[in-house]
Amino acid sequence: MVANDTARVLVASNRGPVSYTVHPDGSLTAKRGGGGLVSGLSAIGPDADAIWVCAAMSEGDAGAVRRSAADGRGRLDPADSGGQRVRMLDIDPEVFEAAYNGIANSTLWFVHHLLFQTPFEPVFDEAFRKQWEAYEAYNAAFADALAEEAAQGAAVLVQDYHLSLVPAMLRARRPDLRIGHFTHTPWAPPDYYRLLPDDIAAGVLTGILGSDRAAFLTQRWADAFTDCCAKVLGAAVLRDEGALTVTHAGHTTRIGVHGLGADADFLRERSHRADVDERLSTLRGQVGEGRKVIVRVDRTELSKNIVRGLLAYRQLLTDHPEWRERVVHVAFAYPSRGDLAVYREYTAEVQRVADKVNEEFRTPGWDPVLLHLKDDFARSLAAYRLADVALVNPIRDGMNLVAKEIPVVTDNGVSLVLSREAGAYEEMGEDSFVVNPYDIRATAKALHEALLLSDGERAERTKRLAAAATALPPQQWFLDQLAALG
Ligand code: G6P
Repeated sequence: MVANDTARVLVASNRGPVSYTVHPDGSLTAKRGGGGLVSGLSAIGPDADAIWVCAAMSEGDAGAVRRSAADGRGRLDPADSGGQRVRMLDIDPEVFEAAYNGIANSTLWFVHHLLFQTPFEPVFDEAFRKQWEAYEAYNAAFADALAEEAAQGAAVLVQDYHLSLVPAMLRARRPDLRIGHFTHTPWAPPDYYRLLPDDIAAGVLTGILGSDRAAFLTQRWADAFTDCCAKVLGAAVLRDEGALTVTHAGHTTRIGVHGLGADADFLRERSHRADVDERLSTLRGQVGEGRKVIVRVDRTELSKNIVRGLLAYRQLLTDHPEWRERVVHVAFAYPSRGDLAVYREYTAEVQRVADKVNEEFRTPGWDPVLLHLKDDFARSLAAYRLADVALVNPIRDGMNLVAKEIPVVTDNGVSLVLSREAGAYEEMGEDSFVVNPYDIRATAKALHEALLLSDGERAERTKRLAAAATALPPQQWFLDQLAALG
């Protein structure tokens, strides 16, 4: 059934632009989120007749959906989402858990970040099959809601690996729609992708190929996707004067690339508010007068390679004792996906290794590592301003916005140590100290060289890094995708 007040532009993503917390007295408070999609969607303005469809991810979210059930569809109070129309899907908790934690985060995320290795080996058994069925049901719930909310010929932008089956499901329900899919992660090369069971490897690809246009953050991930289409499905991949298409089962999907940049205006304004200034002075006090600062800010995520980063810092202090007491590693590793045991274990490992480095090198008045595990955006911006060196060494990363944000926010210029496996490398590699993220000694050497960079050279590089980082602000990134859908 199609709703009366349908939308011309639809965005679908697992995590929405707002989340809710339930208080002991049963009341709810809403918190608006940030990120590229939120700023991107703001570019089309409040009159654009848009709706965002997302999943309820917590008890609080489910409570908000029940509270707003008066409209019969789970549209939230627009006051909570800055006037944005949002429809939250209250999916059965068991189905959600299996789809989100089981398939999206433990299987698809792992395959695209090449993380299937001891002790995180995939087990494709009966329980896994049940998770896959839940993933299908969860995708179908999104396809149903989108089909109901979309006006004739509307544009639908489906986001990420959580919703890879939605494009084909939605096309079957509403062939009149223009459907785009955007992948925010890397894409695995075919030999690795084929670790997935054959039907599931094929199912994810044909799901995305249900779109009119499938887009990626870099050409490298787009090429990996089309390689998988060719090898797994036998699809026809055509490159014609720069235009890339995949044809499978009689349907042609255009492939696009849109690198997402930092939101310079927002960052520059936000990073000079009083709460950031306050944290900056606290951080300065903790670091100590005259010391250099190596900063990293990540979600505590296996793909971010935080432990090897700490080991590289340890190697730096070992190989170059002249840096002892003259440098501090400020490492913010924020909570992520704590429902999964491997994430909790990884967080504990990060803490353990940081403690070890401190025990080994600490002197009175100098803590070599300052590790914080509790999320604080204002403190992150303060660290960005303070950084002499930024360490961004993921094993693999769709883009990595920290690499792009630090050169924009820095007070005195920054040297960037950057993994060649981050999407950001394609735009920023030339002015960075590029590392193989697995190579701890090479990373230590890069940190040393980055610390030694002259002020003049650092200022020049920072200028170029900031220009590259802001070339495609989120608003443009979003509008380009919409325009490309036709
Ligand atoms: C990272 C990835 C996105 C993904 C998101 C999901 O930001 O770059 O591709 O959608 O994680 O994170 P979540 O906390 O919602 O599981």
